[in-house]
Amino acid sequence: MTGLFITLEGPEGAGKSTNREYLAERLRASGIEVLLTREPGGTPLAERIREVLLTPGDEVMSPDAELLLVFAARAQHLAEVIRPALARGAVVICDRFTDSTYAYQGAGRGLSLERIATLENFVQGQLRPHLTLVFDLPVEVGLARASARGRLDRFEQEGRVFFDAVRGAYLKRAEADPSRYFLVDAAQPLSQVQQALDALLPKLLELYRG
Ligand SMILES: Nc1ncnc2c1ncn2[C@@H]1O[C@H](COP(=O)(O)OP(=O)(O)OP(=O)(O)O)[C@@H](O)[C@H]1O
Ligand SMILES: [Mg+2]
Repeated sequence: MTGLFITLEGPEGAGKSTNREYLAERLRASGIEVLLTREPGGTPLAERIREVLLTPGDEVMSPDAELLLVFAARAQHLAEVIRPALARGAVVICDRFTDSTYAYQGAGRGLSLERIATLENFVQGQLRPHLTLVFDLPVEVGLARASARGRLDRFEQEGRVFFDAVRGAYLKRAEADPSRYFLVDAAQPLSQVQQALDALLPKLLELYRG
């Protein structure tokens, strides 16, 4: 594995999707191949699973079914897109990955972290992101931004307790492994968020060039 695997994490409305292109462009400016992708999704089949996961419906989705769908999409994404890109030496920037599973299906839905870890090992083998940027902001700020975008998806319809748990899980994971996680204060104006990303670039380039 010669590439660099970067994931963008954080709750709804934190600015992951807003900033992913910015980060990709900064790296491309250094002449690096960057593959920008997202989860759930990233391949046609995985995007179909995304639709199933995000579309509100009459039938309640069981938490176990949700967890397995997330990892089914991830297996496809890894096989078709992420692993090949890393193998040819690209930087992969993925908007959400397994930290989202720990935060949403684990802390949010209350599924056991051991069970998630078992699936993580099964689907990913040894592969973990080299660096994870956690966009952190107060729950109400993120939800207000997400609501302003329009119709709420199946997760965005959850309540305050769910999102407090999601945020708490991200912070706990970031705190437990400072060498992999980088916290971004996502409540700041966009220009300041992007300054924080700029400040991170030398570290990214150093990690990439080894
Ligand atoms: N720093 C910021 N200040 C103010 N508004 C912002 C900032 N960053 C992003 N936004 C706006 O907030 C909204 C949500 O941002 P974005 O879609 O990037 O969040 P996200 O983290 O990708 O959320 P989700 O997890 O729901 O996909 C967008 O309308 C975006 O323009
Ligand atoms: Mg997004």
